[in-house]
Amino acid sequence: MKRKTLIIGGGGREAATVWMIKDSLGPNVEIHCAPGNAGMKPMAELWNVRANDIDGLCALAKKLQPDIVIPGPEEPLVLGISDRLSDLGIACVGPGAEAARLEGSKVFAKRFMRRHNIRTAAFRVFDDPKEARRFDRWPCAPSRLPVIKADGLCGGKGVFIPNDHNEALDAIEEIMVKKKFGVAGDRIVIEELLSGYECSFIVFTDGRYAVPFLPTTDYKRRRDGDEGLNTGGMGAYCPNPLITPNLHEEIMEDIVLPTIRGMAFEGIPYRGFLYFGLMIAEDGIYVLEYNVRMGDPEAAAILPLCDFDLVELLIAAIDGPANEILRNIKLNWRKNTAAVTVVLADEKYPEGRSDGETIAGIEKAKKRGALVFTAGVSSPSAGGQTLVTSGGRILDVTGIGKDFCEAQKIAYAGAEAIQFKGKNYRKDIAEHLALLHQQVD
Ligand code: AMP
Ligand code: GLY
Repeated sequence: MKRKTLIIGGGGREAATVWMIKDSLGPNVEIHCAPGNAGMKPMAELWNVRANDIDGLCALAKKLQPDIVIPGPEEPLVLGISDRLSDLGIACVGPGAEAARLEGSKVFAKRFMRRHNIRTAAFRVFDDPKEARRFDRWPCAPSRLPVIKADGLCGGKGVFIPNDHNEALDAIEEIMVKKKFGVAGDRIVIEELLSGYECSFIVFTDGRYAVPFLPTTDYKRRRDGDEGLNTGGMGAYCPNPLITPNLHEEIMEDIVLPTIRGMAFEGIPYRGFLYFGLMIAEDGIYVLEYNVRMGDPEAAAILPLCDFDLVELLIAAIDGPANEILRNIKLNWRKNTAAVTVVLADEKYPEGRSDGETIAGIEKAKKRGALVFTAGVSSPSAGGQTLVTSGGRILDVTGIGKDFCEAQKIAYAGAEAIQFKGKNYRKDIAEHLALLHQQVD
């Protein structure tokens, strides 16, 4: 049966989703994107509707009548696209606005975790900057530094990890007094700083059963060696080999299922992708954050390893747990295969951007075996083939190989083949794993 999908968003995650659906369904799928990006044109029909224009998206979905709508970013979900489409009888992957508060409000997420005994960093909520500045009120020992988080959506920029107390006070000032993020900073969470290693653990759930995707690691900091500012993600690798079967079980039993049961218990059952940002610390696993969607750039590393029909999975689960489809399903993944994704960014990212630089070499990168997912790109002329830069993270370049060494080589060969003025990327994505394989080989 020919399927029609509407994908909301226009970044690398959405480009990877489009590619994956096209790769598995070929002529049996019609893909629409709102707004998409110019690099997706050969695979999808693009509609000039922004991802946060809920009325526009509903009108488009009504016109297209897709089998399924797949929102990529969090904003349309937090704004209620899922509820609105469901009122129109159109299937949409993702939680309603109330459940999307797991990402839309750090305060909601932290209190939810506390209510359901899901381990997370000790925290306190502040709505008065005077109170927030008092060290003695912080949930960490006086000699330790806290993490400061704006409550609402800040496009991945609302978390501050200060290097000293003055930076912590500056962060409070920026968020609560100078209103760097508007009302999203009316309240903040101050929490203890954890150390360990991070894992992006994404599941797909129908509100009762959950199927895990392969655990992934994302590189949040801008510069090599995890230096520099926090970003949306500068690279990723998949699967995360540190997640042993025992840890995997612990994550499912102590974190994933209690979250899904907790949401159902509170009368706001959660459906769709749910991303757990985890810190694997010496004394256990902590949830740093929930995201109500797939990760970006994680999707660019995970999706190429899928060996199942994503669209059928999403459609099958739309009716909820009653059909027990997710209970009985086991997703197939490409065996003995690793993926490494390198994000090519504009040198000014994440603090600024320089648009309009011509991008060359994508075909050359593909010839070197890499997959290239377009993110911050546009086309200077309607219908033109040329791509130019338009935003911070420009392209995701993914290498797939029999191990991390091979996957990393392909990803970097692809990254080097691509040229645009201001191209900048981390050189250490999956480096420790590639070296490990080199030694074993
Ligand atoms: P969040 O949006 O809450 O995931 O935070 C973004 C990034 O900040 C995370 O991926 C971590 O790298 C870092 N982070 C957040 N909370 C903490 C914490 N309590 N301790 C250490 N690092 C953190
Ligand atoms: N890469 C982190 C995120 O998608 O939130």
